[in-house]
Amino acid sequence: MSNPANIDRILSDGVAELEKADDAEKIGEVKIHYLGRKGLLSAALKGLKDLSIDERKAFGAAANNAKSELAAKIEGMLSALKPSTKADLDYTLPGQTNRLGRLHPLTRGIKEITEIFRRMGFAVATGPEIETDYYNFGALNFPEDHPARDMQDTFYLSETNGLPPGLLLRTHTSNVQIREFERRKPPLKIIAPGKVYRHEAVSSRAYCVFHQVEGFQVGENISMADMKGALVGFCHEYFSPEIELRFRPSFFPFTEPSAEVDVSCIICDGKGCSVCKYDGWLEILGCGMIDPNVMTAVGYDPEKYTGYAFGMGVERIVMLKRRITDIRLFYENDIRFTRKY
Ligand code: PHE
Repeated sequence: MSNPANIDRILSDGVAELEKADDAEKIGEVKIHYLGRKGLLSAALKGLKDLSIDERKAFGAAANNAKSELAAKIEGMLSALKPSTKADLDYTLPGQTNRLGRLHPLTRGIKEITEIFRRMGFAVATGPEIETDYYNFGALNFPEDHPARDMQDTFYLSETNGLPPGLLLRTHTSNVQIREFERRKPPLKIIAPGKVYRHEAVSSRAYCVFHQVEGFQVGENISMADMKGALVGFCHEYFSPEIELRFRPSFFPFTEPSAEVDVSCIICDGKGCSVCKYDGWLEILGCGMIDPNVMTAVGYDPEKYTGYAFGMGVERIVMLKRRITDIRLFYENDIRFTRKY
């Protein structure tokens, strides 16, 4: 059995069988039968040890030759079969698309708000979120014992992290008033968007972090009419020219007189609904004429200069405009929410 003639027969039988095989499965069977570990070629090679050296050489060469010939033929046949698997593809199936990212509704809201005030002549400034008591409270005329300083309302940073004492997370963007006043001289007209933090119970209307846009103008003869003009102009542009504003007397330590501004509920047109709690009005900002004590604290002459300031809640007004009913949605990063708005 162990002579080159046997090998030749194995080869020719294999080729004949392959000729009859017309699918991958049958080709696979032929491959195992001839080239497998227990296949015909391996069996034939087992007799090799009984041969003389010359015979071994001739027999080995014939076996190797048969093996590579069969393997090449099998490989060629299998790859020739491949296009037929491609033909099974359904080219009308929709392709895989990459979803495009888009701006978070708050980012977009801040951009829109900023753009409107820019057109009204306001410059844009920012300030730190980690602040000292002086910039967040002291310079803004908060008395030492004001309840806003309480740990119930304000997040204080722990000194155990190697931080200097007395740092807090700003509770409003009014710190930027002081920081800008310190580095500029009137006249100035600035808005300052940014994050603020309050230690509050989280609900559908309140969150421990939110955004404000602070605005302020200081100069000679700046009056409450200038403030009203800026705020009415903004609301007409951002919401609609039909929207109504209501200035309600209020109190802030750093403004005098102070007011809170409500807009007519855009969801029910002021008729009363669950969003405005059947009141027809929704509060969107605090404002007032800058207190002379604040002017003095930053070295401005309160006899010469007057000014106004306001601070609006960004989530509030974006919720109103886009009819979003739960503030927490902004912070949950649910892609269904961010895609929708
Ligand atoms: N800082 C105030 C608040 O957070 C809002 C405000 C800003 C009021 C500027 C008056 C002037 O409630």
